[in-house]
Amino acid sequence: MKMQTHLFVQDKGNFEEVMQSAGKIIRAGGLVAFPTETVYGLGANALNPDAVQKIFEAKGRPADNPLIVHVAKKEDFFRLADEINPTAKKLMDTFCPGPLTLILKKKEIVPDITTAGLDSVAIRLPSNKIARELILASGTPIAAPSANRSGSPSPTSASHVMNDLNGKIDAIIDGGNTEIGIESTVVDARGDIPIILRPGEISREDIETVVGKVEIGYKDNKEGIKNPLSPGMKYTHYSPHAEVILLEGSAEAIKQKIAELIQQYSSEEKKIGVLLTEELQDNFVAMKVISLGLASQPSVAAQRIFSAMREMDMEGIDIILVDGSFTSQGIGAAVFNRLRKAASKMINL
Ligand code: TXA
Ligand code: MG
Repeated sequence: MKMQTHLFVQDKGNFEEVMQSAGKIIRAGGLVAFPTETVYGLGANALNPDAVQKIFEAKGRPADNPLIVHVAKKEDFFRLADEINPTAKKLMDTFCPGPLTLILKKKEIVPDITTAGLDSVAIRLPSNKIARELILASGTPIAAPSANRSGSPSPTSASHVMNDLNGKIDAIIDGGNTEIGIESTVVDARGDIPIILRPGEISREDIETVVGKVEIGYKDNKEGIKNPLSPGMKYTHYSPHAEVILLEGSAEAIKQKIAELIQQYSSEEKKIGVLLTEELQDNFVAMKVISLGLASQPSVAAQRIFSAMREMDMEGIDIILVDGSFTSQGIGAAVFNRLRKAASKMINL
């Protein structure tokens, strides 16, 4: 169904008015995309099954993929979830509001469609002001996946959302570029030892500091990395149209391999884009180059990877070569996770 998507541009003068108008759309069962500190979310009243159904339709999202429920106050965790144990409480007290999603035992009040039939619910208290004020103005928890078409890179600006969902949703609130750039850390907090299901800005190290032991419940295709040039198709999730080739190893080896691949693909008349750490910036010319920031500061790479993939697609790039010489410490682990999932080839040097 085609509809007119309204773009709310907010400033200090109209902030309250925009929140009220957008909140009214959510209350009426509509869809509003909004910024969070991680990526833009596509929101609907989490407690209204018909409204939640529209999210799945607009995104083309498989019905078996559950949504995160966003709340504005800590009390709401207790309204939506049961059996919140001391470990989960510690995580909440330390990291919420912020880019952390907790998987908890669901209460009856959360409809099955929101959790894709699971008896658990994912809950997140965002720190972004627009996100929180929207939830308060709506008077209900908001279910929100990332506001991209299913399978595309997550949106970090209102224009990314517009490109994917214009005509399919009621409104978008423009809040500029998101701060973090990749999605929240998802942690199953039902047991005594938390399990990280998706890495994010809140790192394994951060969580260990608070609760001691942590388990890793996600894979980012180690198999593929041991096997150079192995196709990572079954891990592809965040794909741009261009083919992504991720190079890992020492900066020097990556530099040489990129030069080699540029030569090879140029001779095949491919349009090549390169995502490079700041350290390797000056080595390649005459093509689309986007910086990932310093190798020691993966937070910059996090801010840029999804928008860089979209930018490369807009320019009709065929192949994106990614310099994976940045650190895997902290948020670096999450950046590698997203890149490995996007990559159709990984080369370990
Ligand atoms: O930063 C974020 O988390 C963004 C912003 C908008 O908050 N949201 C986001 O949502 O990334 P989405 O739907 O793109 O990713 C949510 C992830 C999915 O991998 C989903 O399978 C998982 O969380 N998830 C949701 N509910 C779950 C549950 N009950 N058990 C296990 N995994 C769950
Ligand atoms: Mg998503």
